[in-house]
Amino acid sequence: MFEIIKPAKPDPILGLTEKFNLDNRSNKINLSVGIYQDSQGQTPTFDSVRKAEEILLQNESDKSYKPIIGDEEFGLLVKDLVLGKNITKQRENTAKSIHTPGGTGALRVVMDYFSKFHQNSVFWISKPSWPNHKQIINSTNLNFNEYAYFNSEDNQLNFNSMINDLSNVKSGDVVLLHGCCHNPTGIDLNQSQWETISDLLLSKKAIPLIDFAYQGFGDGLNEDSEGLRKIVQKNPESIICSSFSKNFGLYSERVGSLTILSSDNLVLENVVSQMKVCIRSNYSNPPSHGVDIVKLILSNPTMRKEWEKELSQIRNRMKKMRNDLVLKLHKLDSKKDFSFIKSQRGMFSISGLDKEQVNELREKYAIYIVDSGRINIAGINSNNIDRLSESIVSVIS
Ligand code: LMR
Repeated sequence: MFEIIKPAKPDPILGLTEKFNLDNRSNKINLSVGIYQDSQGQTPTFDSVRKAEEILLQNESDKSYKPIIGDEEFGLLVKDLVLGKNITKQRENTAKSIHTPGGTGALRVVMDYFSKFHQNSVFWISKPSWPNHKQIINSTNLNFNEYAYFNSEDNQLNFNSMINDLSNVKSGDVVLLHGCCHNPTGIDLNQSQWETISDLLLSKKAIPLIDFAYQGFGDGLNEDSEGLRKIVQKNPESIICSSFSKNFGLYSERVGSLTILSSDNLVLENVVSQMKVCIRSNYSNPPSHGVDIVKLILSNPTMRKEWEKELSQIRNRMKKMRNDLVLKLHKLDSKKDFSFIKSQRGMFSISGLDKEQVNELREKYAIYIVDSGRINIAGINSNNIDRLSESIVSVIS
Protein backbone atom coordinates (compact mmCIF):
# COMPACT_ATOMS: atom_id res chain seq x y z
CA MET A 1 0.00 0.00 0.00
CA PHE A 2 2.68 2.46 0.97
CA GLU A 3 4.52 2.11 -2.34
CA ILE A 4 2.05 4.36 -4.14
CA ILE A 5 2.76 7.30 -1.78
CA LYS A 6 4.59 10.28 -3.31
CA PRO A 7 6.79 12.43 -1.06
CA ALA A 8 5.20 15.55 0.40
CA LYS A 9 6.71 18.95 -0.28
CA PRO A 10 9.01 20.11 2.55
CA ASP A 11 7.39 22.57 4.98
CA PRO A 12 8.04 26.14 3.71
CA ILE A 13 9.42 27.17 7.12
CA LEU A 14 10.54 24.16 9.15
CA GLY A 15 11.76 22.41 5.97
CA LEU A 16 14.26 25.25 5.48
CA THR A 17 15.83 24.66 8.87
CA GLU A 18 16.26 21.00 7.92
CA LYS A 19 18.12 22.23 4.81
CA PHE A 20 20.10 24.76 6.87
CA ASN A 21 21.23 22.05 9.30
CA LEU A 22 22.62 20.02 6.39
CA ASP A 23 24.53 23.01 4.96
CA ASN A 24 28.18 22.71 6.01
CA ARG A 25 29.29 26.23 5.08
CA SER A 26 30.66 27.76 8.29
CA ASN A 27 29.33 31.27 7.59
CA LYS A 28 25.69 30.19 7.13
CA ILE A 29 22.94 32.40 8.57
CA ASN A 30 19.46 31.15 9.46
CA LEU A 31 16.84 33.91 9.17
CA SER A 32 13.99 31.55 8.36
CA VAL A 33 12.12 29.93 11.27
CA GLY A 34 10.61 32.23 13.90
CA ILE A 35 12.94 31.48 16.76
CA TYR A 36 14.49 34.34 18.69
CA GLN A 37 18.30 34.51 18.67
CA ASP A 38 20.31 36.79 20.94
CA SER A 39 23.27 39.00 19.96
CA GLN A 40 25.47 35.86 19.93
CA GLY A 41 23.11 33.97 17.64
CA GLN A 42 21.97 31.74 20.53
CA THR A 43 18.47 30.92 21.77
CA PRO A 44 19.14 30.68 25.51
CA THR A 45 16.48 29.63 27.99
CA PHE A 46 15.07 32.68 29.80
CA ASP A 47 16.57 33.11 33.32
CA SER A 48 13.04 33.37 34.72
CA VAL A 49 12.16 30.06 33.03
CA ARG A 50 15.27 28.32 34.37
CA LYS A 51 14.45 29.50 37.89
CA ALA A 52 10.88 28.29 37.58
CA GLU A 53 12.14 24.91 36.38
CA GLU A 54 14.39 24.57 39.43
CA ILE A 55 11.44 25.24 41.72
CA LEU A 56 9.27 22.77 39.82
CA LEU A 57 11.92 20.08 39.99
CA GLN A 58 12.07 20.39 43.75
CA ASN A 59 8.34 20.45 44.30
CA GLU A 60 6.87 18.21 41.64
CA SER A 61 5.28 15.18 43.23
CA ASP A 62 3.51 13.43 40.35
CA LYS A 63 3.13 13.29 36.60
CA SER A 64 -0.50 12.32 36.37
CA TYR A 65 -2.71 13.59 33.52
CA LYS A 66 -3.85 17.18 33.28
CA PRO A 67 -7.58 17.67 32.68
CA ILE A 68 -8.66 17.65 28.99
CA ILE A 69 -8.71 21.46 28.90
CA GLY A 70 -5.58 21.68 31.00
CA ASP A 71 -4.82 23.52 34.17
CA GLU A 72 -7.58 25.79 35.49
CA GLU A 73 -5.25 28.26 37.24
CA PHE A 74 -3.21 28.61 34.05
CA GLY A 75 -6.45 29.39 32.20
CA LEU A 76 -7.28 32.21 34.61
CA LEU A 77 -3.79 33.71 34.45
CA VAL A 78 -3.79 33.61 30.66
CA LYS A 79 -7.21 35.18 30.40
CA ASP A 80 -5.92 38.06 32.47
CA LEU A 81 -2.72 38.38 30.41
CA VAL A 82 -4.56 38.38 27.09
CA LEU A 83 -7.72 40.32 27.92
CA GLY A 84 -6.43 42.56 30.72
CA LYS A 85 -7.94 43.03 34.18
CA ASN A 86 -11.03 45.03 33.15
CA ILE A 87 -12.31 42.78 30.40
CA THR A 88 -11.48 39.70 32.49
CA LYS A 89 -13.71 41.08 35.21
CA GLN A 90 -16.51 42.02 32.82
CA ARG A 91 -16.32 38.61 31.14
CA GLU A 92 -15.89 36.55 34.30
CA ASN A 93 -18.43 33.97 33.17
CA THR A 94 -18.49 34.57 29.45
CA ALA A 95 -14.83 34.04 28.55
CA LYS A 96 -12.70 30.99 29.17
CA SER A 97 -9.06 30.26 28.40
CA ILE A 98 -8.02 26.65 28.06
CA HIS A 99 -4.55 25.19 27.77
CA THR A 100 -3.48 23.71 24.42
CA PRO A 101 -0.20 22.32 23.04
CA GLY A 102 1.07 25.54 21.45
CA GLY A 103 -0.84 28.08 19.38
CA THR A 104 -0.99 25.52 16.56
CA GLY A 105 -2.78 23.11 18.89
CA ALA A 106 -5.33 25.83 19.69
CA LEU A 107 -5.91 26.58 16.00
CA ARG A 108 -6.38 22.90 15.28
CA VAL A 109 -8.98 22.52 18.05
CA VAL A 110 -10.88 25.51 16.59
CA MET A 111 -10.80 24.05 13.06
CA ASP A 112 -11.89 20.61 14.28
CA TYR A 113 -14.77 22.16 16.20
CA PHE A 114 -15.90 24.27 13.20
CA SER A 115 -15.62 21.36 10.79
CA LYS A 116 -17.91 19.37 13.10
CA PHE A 117 -20.51 22.02 13.90
CA HIS A 118 -20.25 24.93 11.46
CA GLN A 119 -19.13 23.42 8.15
CA ASN A 120 -20.53 26.34 6.16
CA SER A 121 -18.36 28.91 7.88
CA VAL A 122 -15.71 30.17 5.49
CA PHE A 123 -12.37 31.13 7.05
CA TRP A 124 -10.91 34.42 5.83
CA ILE A 125 -7.15 34.73 6.04
CA SER A 126 -4.84 37.59 5.18
CA LYS A 127 -2.80 37.49 1.99
CA PRO A 128 -0.10 36.61 2.91
CA SER A 129 -0.40 34.77 6.20
CA TRP A 130 1.48 32.11 8.17
CA PRO A 131 1.51 29.17 5.69
CA ASN A 132 0.29 26.73 8.35
CA HIS A 133 -3.07 28.56 8.57
CA LYS A 134 -4.06 27.27 5.14
CA GLN A 135 -2.61 23.88 5.88
CA ILE A 136 -4.63 23.44 9.08
CA ILE A 137 -7.83 24.55 7.33
CA ASN A 138 -7.08 22.18 4.44
CA SER A 139 -6.73 19.28 6.83
CA THR A 140 -10.44 19.67 7.67
CA ASN A 141 -13.46 19.95 5.36
CA LEU A 142 -13.56 23.74 5.79
CA ASN A 143 -13.07 26.36 3.09
CA PHE A 144 -11.08 29.55 3.13
CA ASN A 145 -10.88 32.85 1.24
CA GLU A 146 -8.06 35.35 1.31
CA TYR A 147 -8.41 39.06 2.01
CA ALA A 148 -5.95 41.68 0.77
CA TYR A 149 -3.48 42.86 3.40
CA PHE A 150 -0.09 43.72 2.00
CA ASN A 151 0.76 46.01 -0.88
CA SER A 152 4.02 44.77 -2.39
CA GLU A 153 4.43 48.00 -4.40
CA ASP A 154 5.02 50.18 -1.36
CA ASN A 155 5.49 47.50 1.35
CA GLN A 156 2.60 48.90 3.36
CA LEU A 157 -0.77 47.72 4.59
CA ASN A 158 -3.46 47.77 1.92
CA PHE A 159 -6.28 48.74 4.26
CA ASN A 160 -8.81 49.88 1.65
CA SER A 161 -8.54 46.59 -0.23
CA MET A 162 -8.70 44.70 3.07
CA ILE A 163 -12.00 46.39 3.94
CA ASN A 164 -13.25 45.86 0.42
CA ASP A 165 -12.57 42.12 0.56
CA LEU A 166 -13.97 41.74 4.06
CA SER A 167 -17.21 43.40 2.95
CA ASN A 168 -17.91 40.02 1.27
CA VAL A 169 -17.82 38.14 4.57
CA LYS A 170 -21.10 36.33 5.34
CA SER A 171 -22.79 35.83 8.68
CA GLY A 172 -21.07 32.97 10.53
CA ASP A 173 -17.80 33.25 8.59
CA VAL A 174 -14.58 33.37 10.57
CA VAL A 175 -12.07 36.19 10.03
CA LEU A 176 -8.57 35.29 11.10
CA LEU A 177 -6.57 38.32 12.27
CA HIS A 178 -3.06 38.49 13.68
CA GLY A 179 -3.23 40.11 17.14
CA CYS A 180 0.17 41.81 16.70
CA CYS A 181 3.47 41.40 14.85
CA HIS A 182 1.76 40.08 11.72
CA ASN A 183 3.47 36.97 10.40
CA PRO A 184 5.00 37.27 7.79
CA THR A 185 4.76 41.00 7.03
CA GLY A 186 5.48 42.63 10.41
CA ILE A 187 2.75 45.16 9.54
CA ASP A 188 -0.01 45.70 12.09
CA LEU A 189 -3.30 47.58 12.06
CA ASN A 190 -3.36 50.88 13.93
CA GLN A 191 -5.98 51.43 16.64
CA SER A 192 -8.46 53.22 14.40
CA GLN A 193 -8.15 50.42 11.84
CA TRP A 194 -8.83 47.84 14.58
CA GLU A 195 -11.91 49.87 15.46
CA THR A 196 -13.10 49.82 11.84
CA ILE A 197 -12.55 46.05 11.53
CA SER A 198 -14.31 45.50 14.81
CA ASP A 199 -17.41 47.39 13.59
CA LEU A 200 -17.31 45.60 10.26
CA LEU A 201 -17.20 42.13 11.84
CA LEU A 202 -20.03 43.05 14.16
CA SER A 203 -22.19 44.27 11.30
CA LYS A 204 -21.47 41.09 9.34
CA LYS A 205 -22.09 38.82 12.35
CA ALA A 206 -18.73 37.20 11.62
CA ILE A 207 -16.53 35.47 14.22
CA PRO A 208 -13.14 37.08 14.87
CA LEU A 209 -10.39 34.49 15.30
CA ILE A 210 -7.22 36.10 16.56
CA ASP A 211 -3.87 34.41 16.23
CA PHE A 212 -1.83 35.86 19.07
CA ALA A 213 1.61 34.29 18.91
CA TYR A 214 3.75 37.35 19.66
CA GLN A 215 2.27 39.14 22.67
CA GLY A 216 5.07 41.33 24.06
CA PHE A 217 7.21 41.23 20.91
CA GLY A 218 5.75 44.41 19.39
CA ASP A 219 5.37 47.32 21.82
CA GLY A 220 4.58 45.64 25.16
CA LEU A 221 2.28 43.06 26.72
CA ASN A 222 -0.71 45.41 27.07
CA GLU A 223 0.05 47.55 24.04
CA ASP A 224 0.10 44.45 21.80
CA SER A 225 -3.34 43.39 23.07
CA GLU A 226 -5.09 46.72 22.47
CA GLY A 227 -6.46 45.78 19.06
CA LEU A 228 -7.87 42.43 20.07
CA ARG A 229 -9.36 43.93 23.22
CA LYS A 230 -11.28 46.34 20.97
CA ILE A 231 -12.56 43.39 18.98
CA VAL A 232 -13.74 41.35 21.96
CA GLN A 233 -15.42 44.33 23.60
CA LYS A 234 -17.61 44.89 20.59
CA ASN A 235 -18.12 41.40 19.23
CA PRO A 236 -20.08 39.07 21.54
CA GLU A 237 -18.42 35.93 20.21
CA SER A 238 -14.73 35.69 19.46
CA ILE A 239 -11.79 33.32 19.72
CA ILE A 240 -8.13 33.92 20.53
CA CYS A 241 -5.31 31.42 19.96
CA SER A 242 -2.21 32.31 21.98
CA SER A 243 1.25 30.87 21.82
CA PHE A 244 3.88 31.09 24.56
CA SER A 245 6.66 29.71 22.37
CA LYS A 246 8.15 33.10 21.64
CA ASN A 247 7.38 35.29 24.62
CA PHE A 248 8.61 32.67 27.13
CA GLY A 249 11.09 31.00 24.73
CA LEU A 250 9.26 27.72 25.40
CA TYR A 251 9.22 26.54 21.78
CA SER A 252 9.71 22.82 22.41
CA GLU A 253 7.47 22.67 25.49
CA ARG A 254 4.36 23.41 23.40
CA VAL A 255 2.51 25.91 25.55
CA GLY A 256 -0.52 27.67 24.12
CA SER A 257 -4.04 28.60 24.94
CA LEU A 258 -7.45 28.96 23.39
CA THR A 259 -9.67 31.75 24.71
CA ILE A 260 -13.34 31.52 23.79
CA LEU A 261 -15.74 34.42 24.38
CA SER A 262 -19.50 34.19 24.18
CA SER A 263 -22.35 36.39 25.35
CA ASP A 264 -23.82 33.73 27.61
CA ASN A 265 -22.28 31.44 30.20
CA LEU A 266 -24.30 28.36 29.27
CA VAL A 267 -23.52 28.78 25.56
CA LEU A 268 -19.84 29.12 26.42
CA GLU A 269 -19.85 25.95 28.52
CA ASN A 270 -21.62 24.05 25.73
CA VAL A 271 -19.01 25.11 23.18
CA VAL A 272 -16.15 24.25 25.53
CA SER A 273 -17.70 20.84 26.23
CA GLN A 274 -17.69 20.10 22.48
CA MET A 275 -14.13 21.33 22.16
CA LYS A 276 -13.22 18.87 24.91
CA VAL A 277 -14.49 16.07 22.68
CA CYS A 278 -12.31 17.39 19.82
CA ILE A 279 -9.29 17.46 22.14
CA ARG A 280 -9.92 14.00 23.61
CA SER A 281 -9.94 12.42 20.16
CA ASN A 282 -6.84 14.32 19.12
CA TYR A 283 -4.13 14.61 21.81
CA SER A 284 -6.31 13.55 24.76
CA ASN A 285 -4.95 16.12 27.20
CA PRO A 286 -2.14 18.67 27.11
CA PRO A 287 1.50 18.35 28.28
CA SER A 288 2.26 19.83 31.67
CA HIS A 289 5.86 20.98 32.02
CA GLY A 290 5.75 24.19 29.99
CA VAL A 291 2.43 25.24 31.39
CA ASP A 292 3.63 24.78 34.94
CA ILE A 293 6.54 27.11 34.15
CA VAL A 294 4.27 29.82 32.72
CA LYS A 295 1.86 29.47 35.63
CA LEU A 296 4.62 29.89 38.17
CA ILE A 297 6.09 32.95 36.45
CA LEU A 298 2.76 34.69 35.89
CA SER A 299 1.63 34.13 39.48
CA ASN A 300 4.86 35.13 41.25
CA PRO A 301 5.42 38.93 41.20
CA THR A 302 9.24 38.72 41.40
CA MET A 303 9.54 36.12 38.68
CA ARG A 304 7.00 37.94 36.55
CA LYS A 305 8.99 41.14 36.81
CA GLU A 306 12.15 39.33 35.73
CA TRP A 307 10.32 37.72 32.78
CA GLU A 308 8.86 41.06 31.66
CA LYS A 309 12.36 42.57 31.78
CA GLU A 310 13.77 39.75 29.67
CA LEU A 311 10.92 40.19 27.21
CA SER A 312 11.55 43.92 26.89
CA GLN A 313 15.25 43.27 26.22
CA ILE A 314 14.28 40.95 23.38
CA ARG A 315 11.84 43.52 22.01
CA ASN A 316 14.41 46.29 22.13
CA ARG A 317 17.10 44.18 20.48
CA MET A 318 14.79 43.39 17.58
CA LYS A 319 13.94 47.08 17.14
CA LYS A 320 17.64 47.93 17.15
CA MET A 321 18.38 45.25 14.55
CA ARG A 322 15.65 46.70 12.31
CA ASN A 323 17.24 50.14 12.53
CA ASP A 324 20.78 48.83 12.07
CA LEU A 325 19.83 46.80 9.01
CA VAL A 326 18.14 49.76 7.34
CA LEU A 327 21.14 51.95 8.12
CA LYS A 328 23.64 49.43 6.74
CA LEU A 329 21.63 48.94 3.54
CA HIS A 330 21.37 52.69 3.13
CA LYS A 331 25.12 53.15 3.60
CA LEU A 332 25.77 50.52 0.95
CA ASP A 333 23.73 52.64 -1.46
CA SER A 334 21.17 49.93 -1.89
CA LYS A 335 19.10 50.68 -4.99
CA LYS A 336 15.97 49.73 -3.04
CA ASP A 337 14.69 51.79 -0.13
CA PHE A 338 14.34 49.46 2.86
CA SER A 339 13.25 52.09 5.40
CA PHE A 340 9.82 50.40 5.70
CA ILE A 341 11.52 47.67 7.81
CA LYS A 342 11.84 50.18 10.67
CA SER A 343 8.11 50.69 11.07
CA GLN A 344 7.25 47.00 11.09
CA ARG A 345 6.83 45.16 14.38
CA GLY A 346 8.00 41.93 15.96
CA MET A 347 10.15 39.21 14.59
CA PHE A 348 9.43 39.31 10.90
CA SER A 349 9.75 41.52 7.90
CA ILE A 350 8.66 40.94 4.36
CA SER A 351 11.80 42.19 2.67
CA GLY A 352 10.37 42.53 -0.82
CA LEU A 353 13.05 40.14 -2.16
CA ASP A 354 11.65 37.84 -4.84
CA LYS A 355 12.00 34.05 -5.05
CA GLU A 356 15.02 34.24 -7.34
CA GLN A 357 16.81 36.65 -5.00
CA VAL A 358 15.92 34.49 -1.99
CA ASN A 359 17.34 31.50 -3.82
CA GLU A 360 20.54 33.33 -4.68
CA LEU A 361 20.97 34.37 -1.04
CA ARG A 362 20.67 30.72 -0.04
CA GLU A 363 22.79 29.13 -2.78
CA LYS A 364 25.52 31.72 -3.12
CA TYR A 365 25.72 33.24 0.36
CA ALA A 366 24.34 30.51 2.70
CA ILE A 367 21.70 32.95 3.97
CA TYR A 368 18.36 31.28 4.60
CA ILE A 369 15.15 33.29 4.43
CA VAL A 370 11.64 32.04 3.61
CA ASP A 371 10.64 31.94 -0.10
CA SER A 372 8.05 34.68 0.48
CA GLY A 373 10.99 37.01 1.25
CA ARG A 374 10.28 36.89 4.99
CA ILE A 375 13.31 37.67 7.16
CA ASN A 376 13.55 36.74 10.81
CA ILE A 377 14.93 40.01 12.19
CA ALA A 378 15.85 38.28 15.47
CA GLY A 379 18.49 36.23 13.66
CA ILE A 380 20.50 39.35 12.81
CA ASN A 381 23.44 40.29 15.04
CA SER A 382 26.57 42.43 14.92
CA ASN A 383 28.60 39.46 13.62
CA ASN A 384 26.43 38.77 10.58
CA ILE A 385 24.82 42.12 9.72
CA ASP A 386 27.61 43.30 7.39
CA ARG A 387 27.67 40.11 5.35
CA LEU A 388 23.87 40.02 5.28
CA SER A 389 23.54 43.61 4.05
CA GLU A 390 26.26 43.20 1.43
CA SER A 391 24.64 39.97 0.19
CA ILE A 392 21.19 41.61 -0.04
CA VAL A 393 22.61 44.53 -1.99
CA SER A 394 24.42 42.13 -4.29
CA VAL A 395 21.31 40.04 -5.10
CA ILE A 396 19.14 43.07 -5.84
CA SER A 397 21.63 44.81 -8.11
C1 LMR B 1 7.33 30.76 12.12
O1 LMR B 1 6.43 31.33 11.49
O2 LMR B 1 8.50 30.67 11.70
C2 LMR B 1 7.03 30.17 13.47
O3 LMR B 1 5.74 30.44 13.83
C3 LMR B 1 7.39 28.74 13.56
C4 LMR B 1 6.45 27.85 12.81
O4 LMR B 1 5.93 26.92 13.42
O5 LMR B 1 6.25 28.04 11.61
